[in-house]
Amino acid sequence: MSEINYSYIVEYIRALHEVPRSSLLANIEHQIAIEAETWPIIKPEVADFIKVQLSLVQPSTILEIGTAVGYSSIFMSSYLKEGGKITTLERFDYMLRQARKNIKAAGLEDTIEIIEGDAAITLTQLPSESFDVIFMDCAKGQYINFLPECIRLLKPNGLLITDNVLHKGTVARSRYLIDRRQRTTHSRLREFLWTITHSDTLRSSVIPIGDGVALSYKIGGTEK
Ligand SMILES: C[S@@+](CC[C@H](N)C(=O)[O-])C[C@H]1O[C@@H](n2cnc3c(N)ncnc32)[C@H](O)[C@@H]1O
Repeated sequence: MSEINYSYIVEYIRALHEVPRSSLLANIEHQIAIEAETWPIIKPEVADFIKVQLSLVQPSTILEIGTAVGYSSIFMSSYLKEGGKITTLERFDYMLRQARKNIKAAGLEDTIEIIEGDAAITLTQLPSESFDVIFMDCAKGQYINFLPECIRLLKPNGLLITDNVLHKGTVARSRYLIDRRQRTTHSRLREFLWTITHSDTLRSSVIPIGDGVALSYKIGGTEK
């Protein structure tokens, strides 16, 4: 099973999805549907969720961990405050080439900055408390390792949105019921979810849409 919800419900919600999309985003969706076995871009219902969160926050600065072909960066750029910027991190050459091509075609080279390299390193080189929103959408097993950096980089009252946290629903199952090869990811995702839901710094909610999304609010300085 690749969806965590009943497929008829997912199909119904996707039919409601009505993001005003550029033809470029529609083209990327089309290309990915043909070329990739899995869909490495945000699912429509997750895009809708992010759209609403960004409309509430009106971010000037967004950090994305996991650019892929640039789809979600281009999508999120519509909800930035005027003059706002997105910094996005990617480590694979193929993805970097595709992302550069798509961001250029969208005319967003001044808005979206791609930083090349492993986020384990590039994250540490960014200044503290510089992002209103962080969208984490990279290797799931790394989420728990990247979490302290995300907290450091988020401004107080900022939002961390993390995608694919339920890993096709396997995270909710006993580790003995899942394939041995997935057990490390399973335990790391569980640790990540436990940490964000038991943190003094974050208030979090785990939402079963797409492949599971975690929404975490960084408690502001005066609120603690
Ligand atoms: C699910 S895709 C991102 C999809 C993209 N956010 C979108 O919705 O259009 C995950 C991407 O994260 C990248 N990635 C995974 N681990 C990474 C790491 N440690 N540092 C940088 N990029 C990473 C992968 O190369 C892949 O392109």
